Amino acid sequence: MPHLAPHIDTVPGSGIRHIFEMSTKLDGIISLVIGEPDVAVAGHIADAAKHAWDTDATNYTPNGGIAPLRAAIVDKLQRENNMFVDVERVWVTVGATQALYQAMTLTLAAGDEVLIPDPGYTTFTMGVRMLDAHPIPYPLAPERGFLPDIDELERLVTDRTRVLIVNSPSNPLGSIFPERVLRELLDFARRHDLWIISDEVYEYFTYGEKHVSIASLDADNRVFTAFSLSKTYAMTGVRVGYLVTPPGLAATMRSVQEATISCVSTPAQFAAVAAITGDHSPVAAAKAHYRANLIAATAQLDRRGIRYLPPTGAFYLWIDVGHVSAGDVATWAEGFLLEKRVAVAPGSAFGRSGEGWIRVCLALDEAELLEGLGRIPAPGDAPAGAAL
Ligand SMILES: Cc1ncc(COP(=O)(O)O)c(C=O)c1O
Repeated sequence: MPHLAPHIDTVPGSGIRHIFEMSTKLDGIISLVIGEPDVAVAGHIADAAKHAWDTDATNYTPNGGIAPLRAAIVDKLQRENNMFVDVERVWVTVGATQALYQAMTLTLAAGDEVLIPDPGYTTFTMGVRMLDAHPIPYPLAPERGFLPDIDELERLVTDRTRVLIVNSPSNPLGSIFPERVLRELLDFARRHDLWIISDEVYEYFTYGEKHVSIASLDADNRVFTAFSLSKTYAMTGVRVGYLVTPPGLAATMRSVQEATISCVSTPAQFAAVAAITGDHSPVAAAKAHYRANLIAATAQLDRRGIRYLPPTGAFYLWIDVGHVSAGDVATWAEGFLLEKRVAVAPGSAFGRSGEGWIRVCLALDEAELLEGLGRIPAPGDAPAGAAL
């Protein structure tokens, strides 16, 4: 057999998928592991997809997406994100996953370095490795309020650094970078002439804190933004997102889209138009549900003396289990699954800074969530360092 490209073996597996796949082989599991809305897709969105199928709207579309969808996105960006862009900067993609990968494809050559949040969403590392570039984690540490430290970034940047990845609201932390921090990151990127790739897939799920799009503060066209319909409209499997590029890249984007996907599924694009332009009360209801779960979950953790980062966005809780994980939270999460029948994402799956923490998804039935969280040992329940 011929050999594969050598760098392909450096693409890491996902530590979240590992626990998830273990859990699917077991019965009676409470799953807090996958980042997936638990509400159904709204009827008007499903109807638009069905109508496309019924009327044979099943042909190729332009590489950037159907005109009504791109126009709806341009309006939404103005209304919600304070981003004023022409339609040729909007590219409909196969979820934010492809938007992120497309932005990396345009900006990275083999051997380049990318500053990625640690802990951070696993696909950032995977995408960078796919391109034979190097992820350089920048810590989001508890002692700095889980925010980036510019001095630390200055120490990590080299003449090979090309991109800074920003993710707010954050998966896995559920935190939001304040505008002041976004401005500091832009200044840092300007000093070192870096691109910024901003992942804003949780933009609609905020609790008290305001989400600001870093591209709305960008004075010199260095920001790519990946958005998604997956989480907002509970349509993760429909696979629609979009990339907003700096100006002047339309010809390049057209070629890159053609070479990779040609276009996004046509019925899915019609569903996306209905989602963006239609009734948003289901989004508000989903947000209220996540918020109610968040309040119930944190009240329980407070009562039991278990430490967590109070989230201001997304639908996750970042919980400290350092009192039981004995320096290896991935092994602890496996044991917890087998013995307590609860699947959680080990923090170390998101980077070295996640050691000793777990990520729990709040998008499920409240009673089940509380039952699952209740099985996490509290600091008083177990001697420090005990396996479970
Ligand atoms: C931070 C972040 N970015 C991107 C994605 C991928 O989303 P999509 O379904 O739009 O590809 C996810 C999904 O979990 C995510 O958490």
